[in-house]
Amino acid sequence: MKGVILAGGLGTRLYPLTHVTNKHLLPVYDRPMIFYPIQTLVKAGITEVLLVTSGPHVGHFLGVLKNGKELGLTHLEYAYQEKPDGGIADALSLAQDFADGENITVILGDNTTDADISNEVSNFDKGALVFLKKVEDPKRFGVAVFDKEDPTKVIAIEEKPKQPKSDMAVTGLYIYDSSVFKYINETKPSNRGELEITDVNNAYVEKGKLRWAELNGFWSDAGTFQSLFESNSYWFNKLKSEK
Ligand code: TTP
Repeated sequence: MKGVILAGGLGTRLYPLTHVTNKHLLPVYDRPMIFYPIQTLVKAGITEVLLVTSGPHVGHFLGVLKNGKELGLTHLEYAYQEKPDGGIADALSLAQDFADGENITVILGDNTTDADISNEVSNFDKGALVFLKKVEDPKRFGVAVFDKEDPTKVIAIEEKPKQPKSDMAVTGLYIYDSSVFKYINETKPSNRGELEITDVNNAYVEKGKLRWAELNGFWSDAGTFQSLFESNSYWFNKLKSEK
């Protein structure tokens, strides 16, 4: 399986920090944020990776990651998202040639987790798989709606709902087959002008091809001052004892 890390966007919620460098290169404890999603992929046996990025500091990535060898990657490729705030699905569209018709594991560059996704990666066949996580504030996320008759079945994903129908948020980890690029092409920009990954996931739901797995362990994005601080705090406590 190949991996795709989406590290575009402008990180406006972290201004003025993101005037200095790209959000995904900011420190989370003792390493740049982007090391964590790379480590999640490597731990799952994924060592061929495409990094999609954008914005005014893109050059910084090369200096930090180089060819990815030091982090355990066997192949690291870069793609440039022309419209930095085009949306997650827009960023993912750039992975089509890299995927070359194969399945891909996708992770957002500001998501850090200590979950082991190896089983889901090795057992994945076709369709889409989203990783869900129970959260206290589902209104901030894409939220899974479950079938009343069959509570294991997701029947829709609602983007930042005012009245969430569950507390299971869609995290920034996904596995897709190659039809993801067809669904992205069929997606229209949302009210905020972005190609939304939720629309792509709902396209899979409509075809009855979306499955889910619960993400075990710690998971957080690091896109706000609070979540960046909480991520730093979690990883400091976890990693300091391993030193
Ligand atoms: P967001 O945090 O939703 O967007 P952002 O990074 O632009 O931040 P802000 O809202 O503060 O301006 O995006 C989550 C992740 O998705 C981000 O870390 C990288 C990825 N992403 C892209 O790769 N391209 C995009 O166009 C967007 C919007 C996000």
